[in-house]
Amino acid sequence: MEIHLGHVVTPSSGTDATPGALLDIPRGAVVTDGPVIVTVGPADEVVAGYTRSAASPVVHDHGGKLIVPGFVDCHVHYPQIGMIASPGEQLLDWLDRYTFPAEARFADLAHARATASFFTDQLICHGVTTALVYSTVHPHSVDALFTAARERGLRIITGKTCMDRNAPAELLDTPETAQSQSAALLERWHGVDRLEYALTPRFAPTSSDAQLEALGELADSYPDVVVQTHLSENVGEIGWVGELFPDAVDYTDVYDRVGLVRERSVFGHGVHLTDRELDRLGSVHASVAHCPTSNNFLGSGLFPLAASLHTAPGLRIGFGSDVGGGTSLSPLATAGEAYKVSRLIASSGDGDAVAPLSAAELLYYSTLGGARALGVDAHVGSLEPGKDADLVILDATESSGNAVLANRAAECTSTEELLFALMLLGDDRAVDRVVVNGVPDAPR
Ligand code: GUN
Ligand code: ZN
Repeated sequence: MEIHLGHVVTPSSGTDATPGALLDIPRGAVVTDGPVIVTVGPADEVVAGYTRSAASPVVHDHGGKLIVPGFVDCHVHYPQIGMIASPGEQLLDWLDRYTFPAEARFADLAHARATASFFTDQLICHGVTTALVYSTVHPHSVDALFTAARERGLRIITGKTCMDRNAPAELLDTPETAQSQSAALLERWHGVDRLEYALTPRFAPTSSDAQLEALGELADSYPDVVVQTHLSENVGEIGWVGELFPDAVDYTDVYDRVGLVRERSVFGHGVHLTDRELDRLGSVHASVAHCPTSNNFLGSGLFPLAASLHTAPGLRIGFGSDVGGGTSLSPLATAGEAYKVSRLIASSGDGDAVAPLSAAELLYYSTLGGARALGVDAHVGSLEPGKDADLVILDATESSGNAVLANRAAECTSTEELLFALMLLGDDRAVDRVVVNGVPDAPR
């Protein structure tokens, strides 16, 4: 049994909880028992309860530092960590110039293993304890990531990226191998510890109809597994999809007609969705991963989060880093960028003015919203008894090494202000400790 004392801040998952609702306990305690949270409450009450009991818990006093839930990254490419910040024209040019060559290097198992180790270490450094990740077309890239994640206790969902056209020959599979290799990996890994498999067609332009159908068949056999792909990210991409799939009603329909649009289908970006597409996604509780640093870096556009939810209240939304299109693994940086996007949309809005995202909402989409988008909110996303013991200790003082953040934080007069400053100014330096599935990482 371990007690973490500090400033506890978490979304709460009550049925009537809104993205803006926070549980805020300035001197709070989170008690973990192995991999599970057993108690969350005011420190004095919780500590008194345990000192009276026979068990003598280990106490970690984090002082005034924040204790928040482990962050959830709903969309990230681990093979792209080495080519982050490579400037391309826009999406399709960037894929050809940097992304495909970087992914081709994963034919080498040793490279896949080394990258998986580095990537999973970095997830933890940045406070990410749950992530939906793209591997490469090579099945051993999935084995490498799952192995590294399992060693570290992370909750990782990944799959082999399937592509059978419009990419270099060395990165192509076929409808048959996409199905058979995905099925074999799923059988090997799905449900092992905190690992889950995701069916992963890269995006419509790199899959033939036959390949999408083959993956749709697999999805049908495994109705609960996650599906991940990209959707409506870039205007040029959308035009190309229209040419490649002339019979589809729109981009969403390309996936829908083969059975890939359902609950736990997580679509990266969704920047330019029509009302019809949003309606359809919302009606089945599908998810969009909002990837603001990537959308800005690649000039893809501004995802209209509030308007999308207004059109499709059933839609599930979480944040994604989309590294290497995204420019940071830090959920704080992603949230800060999401704020700026929402600010731009709010300021340019005519008619119904929409407020930009609040700090509480930004924390929600980085944690519980993301967990709901991935369908893992029964386990993670908030600090609540019964959930996995994934905790991030955030430091906004001088000891973080971020003097500008510390200077600003000293002036903050509310939890919301402090969270906001952390998201606009913070990065991995603000992550003091991370508890992954009950196990605290080594102090930095
Ligand atoms: N669309 C298809 N593949 C990719 C990718 O690797 N990154 C991004 N941002 N968009 C994509
Ligand atoms: Zn992506």
